[in-house]
Amino acid sequence: MFEIKENFSLKKYNTFGIDVETKYFVEYSTVNELSNFLGAQRKHDLPLMFIGGGSNVLFTKDFEGYILHSKINGVEIIKEEDDKVYLRVGAGEDWDEFVDYCVKNAWSGVENLSLIPGNVGTCPIQNIGAYGVEVKDVITEVETIEIDTLKKTLFTNVECQFGYRDSIFKRKFKGKYIINYVTFCLSKKHIFKIDYGNLQEELKKYDQVNLQNIRQAVINIRDSKLPKPEVIGNAGSFFKNPVVHFNVIADLKKSYTDFPFYLQKNDLVKIPAGWLIEQAGWKGRNFGKVGVHEKQALVLINHGGASGQEIVNLAQEIQKSVKEKFGIDIEMEVNLV
Ligand code: EPU
Repeated sequence: MFEIKENFSLKKYNTFGIDVETKYFVEYSTVNELSNFLGAQRKHDLPLMFIGGGSNVLFTKDFEGYILHSKINGVEIIKEEDDKVYLRVGAGEDWDEFVDYCVKNAWSGVENLSLIPGNVGTCPIQNIGAYGVEVKDVITEVETIEIDTLKKTLFTNVECQFGYRDSIFKRKFKGKYIINYVTFCLSKKHIFKIDYGNLQEELKKYDQVNLQNIRQAVINIRDSKLPKPEVIGNAGSFFKNPVVHFNVIADLKKSYTDFPFYLQKNDLVKIPAGWLIEQAGWKGRNFGKVGVHEKQALVLINHGGASGQEIVNLAQEIQKSVKEKFGIDIEMEVNLV
């Protein structure tokens, strides 16, 4: 099914629930339909943008172009080995339904990524991650179409240049390719990753560690900290956790004995931005229609009826105040449009 809608409200297509319109909203179920639209049906002077569940985007005004939304579905086993299974999944599949399907089939690799909003087709773009796992750990290939040439182009895991909440699709190839299928390699031998602080703690409530219990534990933690987008508009972490050289925090550690950080390679440290924002006094504060979540300071919220610009203004105030207090820049994770 291929459909172009005009002057279409994006309110249901962004988890912040911002009420903006796109000039055109395009949905397609096959790569051929997409290719046909890109080649023959679009006005070439209008901008294009691909969205999945709209869980990492903040619209600040109406979009004068085409928003593309994939309905390419299907989960296909393309190869099976003694201890592994390779799945080719349509970009339009809901991420958490896919995780649930894997857990039910006893394939491990994505259970820590339970309950992350969004679709399969957008998960590689920002390399979604949670509780010690990033989706790059299980992606083998990403199938795309190049917008300008209509060439079907395959990206291997290495070619995606994955980094922390980052990939080539956010940088050099931003807006140049549309993702149609993602192939994952999951494990039939269960390799659990449960080292992440509060996950281990939560799992103590269960009599055994298995895929289903890990999924449930992650769901419990997320439910306790993160607002549900259907109830309160938000896009999960609004900022990335900054990564800086250890020298940057050496003095800060003297002033704040509990200064949290995670050691990375090459003397770098990752600092939880939520802690910086909380220390700067923002956690749980509300300003009219917008606010900072009371249980996780990294999450900005739309209490209803906020504009994207109001959220951006709050984000900039927070960035400024964290910079003044700690001398550290925090970068937005959410894609501003
Ligand atoms: N913290 C605070 N105050 C807060 C929030 C956090 O002090 O309000 C400190 C605490 O020290 C806590 C630490 O930050 O121990 C880590 O907090 P949490 O485990 O909630 O993780 P996070 O670093 O804030 C990241 C991801 C989340 C992901 C969790 C769990 C980023 C930008 N965010 O958050 O991802 O769910 O880890 O792995 O990396 C998302 O990307 O949308 C997202 C929710």
